Amino acid sequence: MTFLVIGAGPSGLAAVKAFRQSGLPVEAVDRQPDIGGQWLYGGEASAVYASTHLISSKGPTAYEDFPMPAAWPAYPHHAQALQYLRDYAAHFDLLPAIRCGLGVRLMTRAAPGWRAEFDDGTARDYRGVVIANGHLTEPAMPAIPGRFDGQVMHAKAYRTPDLFAGKRVLVVGMGNTGCDIVVDAVHHARSVLWSVRGGNHFVPKFLAGRPADEGGRRGLASRLPRRWRGRIHGAVLGFVVGRPEQFGLPRPAHGLYDRTPIVNSLVLQHLGQGDVAVRVPIREFDGAEVVFADGRRDAVDLVLFATGYRATFPFVAPGPLNEVDGVPHLHLNIFPPEDNGLYVAGLIEGAGIGWGGRALQAELIAAYLKASPAAVARFRRAVAETCGRPRAAERGESGFFVDYAAYRRDLVAAMADLR
Ligand SMILES: Cc1cc2nc3c(=O)[nH]c(=O)nc-3n(C[C@H](O)[C@H](O)[C@H](O)COP(=O)(O)OP(=O)(O)OC[C@H]3O[C@@H](n4cnc5c(N)ncnc54)[C@H](O)[C@@H]3O)c2cc1C
Ligand SMILES: NC(=O)c1ccc[n+]([C@@H]2O[C@H](COP(=O)([O-])OP(=O)(O)OC[C@H]3O[C@@H](n4cnc5c(N)ncnc54)[C@H](OP(=O)(O)O)[C@@H]3O)[C@@H](O)[C@H]2O)c1
Repeated sequence: MTFLVIGAGPSGLAAVKAFRQSGLPVEAVDRQPDIGGQWLYGGEASAVYASTHLISSKGPTAYEDFPMPAAWPAYPHHAQALQYLRDYAAHFDLLPAIRCGLGVRLMTRAAPGWRAEFDDGTARDYRGVVIANGHLTEPAMPAIPGRFDGQVMHAKAYRTPDLFAGKRVLVVGMGNTGCDIVVDAVHHARSVLWSVRGGNHFVPKFLAGRPADEGGRRGLASRLPRRWRGRIHGAVLGFVVGRPEQFGLPRPAHGLYDRTPIVNSLVLQHLGQGDVAVRVPIREFDGAEVVFADGRRDAVDLVLFATGYRATFPFVAPGPLNEVDGVPHLHLNIFPPEDNGLYVAGLIEGAGIGWGGRALQAELIAAYLKASPAAVARFRRAVAETCGRPRAAERGESGFFVDYAAYRRDLVAAMADLR
């Protein structure tokens, strides 16, 4: 019986490749009209805006067996990212196994696996399903009391900065999206305010002329405990970049490698130039004005919420993915406690993962499906142990943050044990 992969973004493509290379029959579907996931600019699943360049450099981002062209810049544009994924799919002959323009609307159990019902009303039974549906599709929008007379939008709908022309803009949220959009807005808006809540660490794109994330994933530094790595690299950043508080931003309450940092060399410069004014979180809307938690008020034309995304699995009823507070609690972010033929790919957040990290997940799923009964039994004990424990606080608020150096080691060790 065939396996189904839901999604043909970087994780789904890697899953199709890993299954085919392991001799496991597989087909994939994607609701968008083409492969590429997030990187299909303008697609319904994509939150990529026109100015998006990778924040991870091309070496750490690329699949390990398919480097990006040497002539490309260190941080490629989103159009190059899509081209790269298309080249990857063509190189490994993945396209015949993928059907685009077709979504899975419902999955139900059909022994020994799952029945997938598609958007076009057809259905098919599968031995197992790799869920690679991405987790940056469903906007997380805070509920703000009051009425606002201006325009409100989420970053998911943001594409080009002409939208800001002549407007008093308030960007809410200090993730990588918020930072990129603040920089876009500075060049077009009449004025830019930035409402921030928790603090974060800022990493420049380049250090000593090299991409800042090169070399950090392997070598000696990657073998140090996370806290020590964070302290050493944090001290370097403090010297090169300075502290966020020096730019009027909140002091981060977490260590450098406890959350995905901000990778942006421009936004601090704009703060320092006075192009952007920082505000605390919004308390309420009041007609043409926004009222902040400290009582300050500003008249604003456009509020853009760059407040992140929620992971959702609308095609599976709750239960089989072992949701805790709405987020699957899985072994290695992949395997649910019940051996039910569902495997989640790409549900990871953290610096350094790239598409190579997503490919390692796919290879582990394939290795599991090919493993001997004794190796599977050992693996199931590890799954039961992880999922029997409460989710660790170090998984972050998203519930799926990983420290990639340690996570990669765990994936490689699990694979070695299965083979
Ligand atoms: C602006 C922006 C910049 C980013 N920059 C980086 C970066 O520099 N480096 C990095 O590593 N990551 C970056 N990311 C994260 C990005 O999500 C990953 O690079 C990568 O796209 C994740 O791959 P994925 O396949 O898991 O999910 P996605 O790329 O989101 O693909 C999921 C696919 O599943 C499909 N799908 C969903 N539900 C269904 C369904 N029911 N039926 C059929 N198909 C379905 C969707 O249509 C989509 O094509 C960025 C994200 C954004 C938004
Ligand atoms: N150029 C790139 O390559 C690029 C660009 C964008 C995004 N990405 C990636 O895409 C993923 C999603 O990033 P994201 O920035 O969209 O989401 P995110 O990382 O979840 O960040 C959301 C931000 O919104 C803040 N926030 C939430 N509610 C708020 C409120 N009511 N008031 C003020 N702030 C609020 C959060 O603050 P708290 O910290 O307090 O919760 C956080 O700073 C990440 O992996 C990111 O690295 C990459």
